[in-house]
Amino acid sequence: MSNKSAKLTIGDKEIELPIYTPTAGPDVLDITKLYAQGDVFTYDPGFTSTAACDSTITFIDGDKGELLHRGYPIDQLAEKSHFLEVCYLLLYGELPSATELEDFETRVTNHTMVHEQMHNFFRGFRRDAHPMATLVGVVGAMSAFYHDSTDINDEWQREVAAIRLIAKLPTIAAMAFKYSIGQPFVYPRNDLDYASNFLHMCFSVPAENYEVNPILARAMDRIFTLHADHEQNASTSTVRLASSSGANPFACIAAGIACLWGPAHGGANQACLEMLKEIGTVDRIPEFIARAKDKNDSYRLMGFGHRVYKNFDPRATVMKQSADEVLELLGVEDNPLLQVAMELEKQALADPYFAEKKLFPNVDFYSGIILEAMGFPTSMFTPIFALARTVGWISQWKEQISDPKLKIGRPRQLYKGETARDYVDIEKR
Ligand code: SDX
Repeated sequence: MSNKSAKLTIGDKEIELPIYTPTAGPDVLDITKLYAQGDVFTYDPGFTSTAACDSTITFIDGDKGELLHRGYPIDQLAEKSHFLEVCYLLLYGELPSATELEDFETRVTNHTMVHEQMHNFFRGFRRDAHPMATLVGVVGAMSAFYHDSTDINDEWQREVAAIRLIAKLPTIAAMAFKYSIGQPFVYPRNDLDYASNFLHMCFSVPAENYEVNPILARAMDRIFTLHADHEQNASTSTVRLASSSGANPFACIAAGIACLWGPAHGGANQACLEMLKEIGTVDRIPEFIARAKDKNDSYRLMGFGHRVYKNFDPRATVMKQSADEVLELLGVEDNPLLQVAMELEKQALADPYFAEKKLFPNVDFYSGIILEAMGFPTSMFTPIFALARTVGWISQWKEQISDPKLKIGRPRQLYKGETARDYVDIEKR
């Protein structure tokens, strides 16, 4: 418990609120008893000053540009680890031994296929449906195919649901891509690692052999790692709120995918690349920067800014390195989009507006350039983000579900509507 507290005076009442000290980050003021003792709500739209839960999974320091997963810095994990090992770390709290890792990877590999009847489920969508629409629908439908892992009170079922989601999201995302381009679904292969399997399911066709380029597979794996988890962001908070009602894990993850789709969140990677294409050439950058600065224009530079990072997004730094490697490998280092992106970053960071508002490239700024160079259409950028973030969502879901203090989330409001009034018959209106 806490030996620190804050005193709040409301009218003639003085309320003492406990203060908790975390292992890292700012102190937390416990207001759980505020309404009962003070008959007032707090007011914090967007939750800019609100800790909605306690967690041991991911820590972010926005001023230092620090991102830790179970204490390990993201740049070290991106450099030395790989996505399935990071999945293990997020799920179980420690880096695995060689035996534990092999067992985990085998379990994931053995769950990569989807129920054959799910193929029919895709047939109900128009071919030109956005892959995120398909992903939300099919992942939500998983609860109709995997009944034996929907009981959240059964630890074994929770574990199986987590493995199934991590294992099957690449297969479902690849199926959504293949369906949208009219190509046949490609089954997962157990002889390929996670990232290579995804690339194979996306780009191989029955008509010819497809060899996965190991450098592209490494870049793909690194993109997954950089998107794995990110504290209590909008989509993770959506998953937590959905799971607080006792909804099954597949429904909760489908809710997270729906939230991630928005251009202010995970949809920014698609929006960012579309912005770079709209800018087109370096000489048009000042025009777009002026629009982003114009108070009367709601236009924003996609891929810039972050609710928490106020100096730099450590993921963007690593992503930029990957972009250089991939474009050099593909012999497109003079990619016009990358030229525009680098010049846009240079001009924006030199502009007082962006410096004052602490707007820097975020994780979405460079990822789209890599994904486009790999051959993905922009519509697949957010499904790839969702595929990678599934482990973060399900790790946070597991942490919340096993918390004995879990209560259904139920925020209140600052009501500004009409006070009680009598119904008026239509003849008198
Ligand atoms: C992700 O939360 C997470 O962790 C998310 C994420 C994750 O891993 O889960 O990191 C992934 O979502 C990254 C963010 C991707 N989104 C974008 O790139 C979209 C463009 N960025 C913005 O929409 C915005 O920066 C947000 C939504 C990311 C953050 O917005 P905030 O913190 O709510 O800040 P704000 O909207 O209050 O803006 C503060 C000021 C405003 O100006 P004033 O009203 O104070 O004059 O900065 C301006 C904004 O107009 N501003 C921008 C801007 N972002 C903010 N101006 C121009 N371009 C931008 N991109």
